[in-house]
Amino acid sequence: CGIVGYIGNNDSKELLLRGLEKLEYRGYDSAGIALKNEDGVHVFKEKGRIADLRRAVDGHIFANIGIGHTRWATHGVPSKVNSHPHQSASDRFTLVHNGVIENYDLLKREYFADGAFKSETDTEVIVQLIEKFVGEGLQVLEAFRKTLTLLHGSYALALLDAEDNETIYVAKNKSPLLVGLGQGFNVVASDAMAMLQVTDQFVEIMDKEIVIVTKDFVNIQNLNGETIERAPYTAELDASDIEKGTYPHYMLKEIDEQPAVIRKIIQTYQNEQGELTIDVDIINAVNKADRIYIIAAGTSYHAGLVGKQLIEKMAKVPVEVHISSEFGYNMPLLSEKPLFIFISQSGETADSRAVLVEVKKMGYPALTITNVPGSTLSREADYTLLLHAGPEIAVASTKAYTAQIAVLSIFAEVIAKSKGLEIDFDLIHELGLVANSMDVLCDSKEIIEIMAKEFLSVTRNCFFIGRGIDFYVGLEGALKLKEISYIQAEGFAGGELKHGTIALIEEGTPVIALATQENVNLSIRGNVKEVVARGANPCIISMKGLNMDEDSFVIPEVHELLTPLISVVPLQLLAYYASLHRGCDVDKPRNLAKSVTVE
Ligand code: G6P
Repeated sequence: CGIVGYIGNNDSKELLLRGLEKLEYRGYDSAGIALKNEDGVHVFKEKGRIADLRRAVDGHIFANIGIGHTRWATHGVPSKVNSHPHQSASDRFTLVHNGVIENYDLLKREYFADGAFKSETDTEVIVQLIEKFVGEGLQVLEAFRKTLTLLHGSYALALLDAEDNETIYVAKNKSPLLVGLGQGFNVVASDAMAMLQVTDQFVEIMDKEIVIVTKDFVNIQNLNGETIERAPYTAELDASDIEKGTYPHYMLKEIDEQPAVIRKIIQTYQNEQGELTIDVDIINAVNKADRIYIIAAGTSYHAGLVGKQLIEKMAKVPVEVHISSEFGYNMPLLSEKPLFIFISQSGETADSRAVLVEVKKMGYPALTITNVPGSTLSREADYTLLLHAGPEIAVASTKAYTAQIAVLSIFAEVIAKSKGLEIDFDLIHELGLVANSMDVLCDSKEIIEIMAKEFLSVTRNCFFIGRGIDFYVGLEGALKLKEISYIQAEGFAGGELKHGTIALIEEGTPVIALATQENVNLSIRGNVKEVVARGANPCIISMKGLNMDEDSFVIPEVHELLTPLISVVPLQLLAYYASLHRGCDVDKPRNLAKSVTVE
């Protein structure tokens, strides 16, 4: 899931380990490094955390070349054997790989009759092929290139040759990879964050490019061996943004950052006249379209559902929201003039990118809404709107979700105004109130911690219900809870629970109900009564003005279209405290990755 590499004059161990630590947030289940010096290549790998790997690494080795990897298992269980780096039969070549080689089995059968491989991974076939082709007389670079032409699927690769003290070979297709430039050294990283400790100058690598990295130069080539010139860019990340400071967890820090993020978004999207604005090319593209298709995964999909409400109600453009992995294989009948919006915190989600590639082939316009400037989805779409939320490290997304909704609300208003539609509220003012209300909620942690104890400390499952926009927030609340506390949680439309799932309600089952919408306030309360009659333990979170005596928590009043921005905050905090009290790893939940770069 993460790759790092270093070549220079200094010892690479600590730099690689620290780089991998910076990538920990992306989720992984094993890690390894390969260190190269005159004595050869030394490989260390461990299942588990970087801390375990650190203990396993021989501190006496000095090696000025090295590569490292964190693995999120796809082919083969998480284990020491399956973790990277992988080595060829004679151990001459050592490789780390992100991505999935779809035809690995075929290649294995075609080129290796005896099939005696060391691991169960799809990766190993790459390094074995390179050695095979070198054995047949090819130069290493040619063997590398030939191997790449045989691969179907996604890869970011870094390769060491035990007989070469000067080179790291790098290649990329679909999976992210960057080369970082230094004085007398160069580095490789799947995410700039990993190497910000030594450089902020990075060169993007495009699909199907090979890079020869030495300590003094970086040579990018296409698969035909032609050199490609590309200037570096400066990674505008503040290294201090990715520190936890005094917070026990990134997730709590990121929840607390939400008011500041909303204020930053209001400020960034205002022009000199104090009006909200976006790039005029985006406005024109939207106004030419007859329908918007929002494509996203996970939390970003949930933000997309809220976005549909905002865009349809404010800008009167019809919107469909689709899960990216479904859309790719099961495309609905498209309207005549569609416009696609990709929502993605990381800008790297492979499922979403696969759709973007298809959409571009079909010639349709695409806008990416992302937190990461320069990310793959941002580069490859026609237009980008940034979230300005700062790096989000905790696997469970919080501030990116609220930032996505805030940016979508601005998008909806700008489009509405461009069409001459009246908006009967002042969005800047209302978003300001949202930020203030978020402050109030972030100050209510003690009450929410008590609620988490009351409702979630022993339960096996939990249901979230809501109607309309509250239903979508319930989906997100349920996702947060299951991601980090492993409580089985599901979100339902208030009226739907009784059509089946109510069978799961037992004595004491927590049901968290959201009541922020006036038009459905009484009906959602009716749904609560139905589950209470079957023994449920109800937790009603309502908005001021709609609240009743039996409610567990009341959020401040904001505009009815913007309630998701604040009703989600107590749900994020409930998930946080449930995870904490159950002794789970809040920031790095099991089995999850922050950015899933495999389809
Ligand atoms: C992963 C993460 C989720 C995230 C989803 C989409 O599954 O664990 O938290 O919502 O990817 O990520 P994106 O970066 O595209 O928003």
